[in-house]
Amino acid sequence: MKIKTATFVKSSGSVEHLPPADLPEFAFIGRSNVGKSSLINCLVGKRELAHTSSNPGKTQTINHFLINKDWYLVDLPGYGYAKVAQSMRAEWEKTLYKYLGKRENLLTVFVLVDVRIEPQKKDLGFLRTVGEHGLAICIVFTKADKLSAVELHNNVEAFKTAMLEDWEETPPFIVTSADTEMGKDELLNYITETAKIFVRPDSKKKLNF
Ligand code: GTP
Ligand code: MG
Repeated sequence: MKIKTATFVKSSGSVEHLPPADLPEFAFIGRSNVGKSSLINCLVGKRELAHTSSNPGKTQTINHFLINKDWYLVDLPGYGYAKVAQSMRAEWEKTLYKYLGKRENLLTVFVLVDVRIEPQKKDLGFLRTVGEHGLAICIVFTKADKLSAVELHNNVEAFKTAMLEDWEETPPFIVTSADTEMGKDELLNYITETAKIFVRPDSKKKLNF
């Protein structure tokens, strides 16, 4: 897929303020600082469409971007950011699960996982919750440029092994780097293929989180 246009639509603080659910939608989620905003910028070929920061907790709202006037890419705040007050985290998690449960045009939840580190309980727990509710998941490993090919292979296998303790089979996964654009075409192809199955939201069943 060639990206012709990528525009910011809006930032929503709650699910009541989301744009209409009339186009295929793809969400990026993962722990704070995993590289969600950077990967979105890499995908669309714009350096500052989504705001990035080396300080975790940069993205704090649900951000919709319209791509090729055809589909939405959504940048979400990271989960598991320890420095945010417990009450704020709980509030945000409520909003997140409401979004995941109610967004009828959401076709794939891309769960971003930092490939440099060993499997984290937070990521595995989040994947389990999302999977249990029947949402389609694709795991996206980030920051692959920081590892050698052997380390990369070992870490991906370690994550798959950890997942198989809960899952019968692992979801599809893509290894990426926002710095080298590794995995960019694979990710765009995945979106192109998945968007083909989009059906009008009014005919889809609502999920209950
Ligand atoms: P929050 O919005 O805070 O949840 O973070 P985020 O997941 O959107 O992460 P963001 O894209 O802001 O990136 C966090 C940091 O990781 C920044 O310093 C990026 O430059 C760096 N980073 C992101 N992707 C990559 C990558 O592929 N390779 C390397 N080496 N660094 C990356
Ligand atoms: Mg961000």
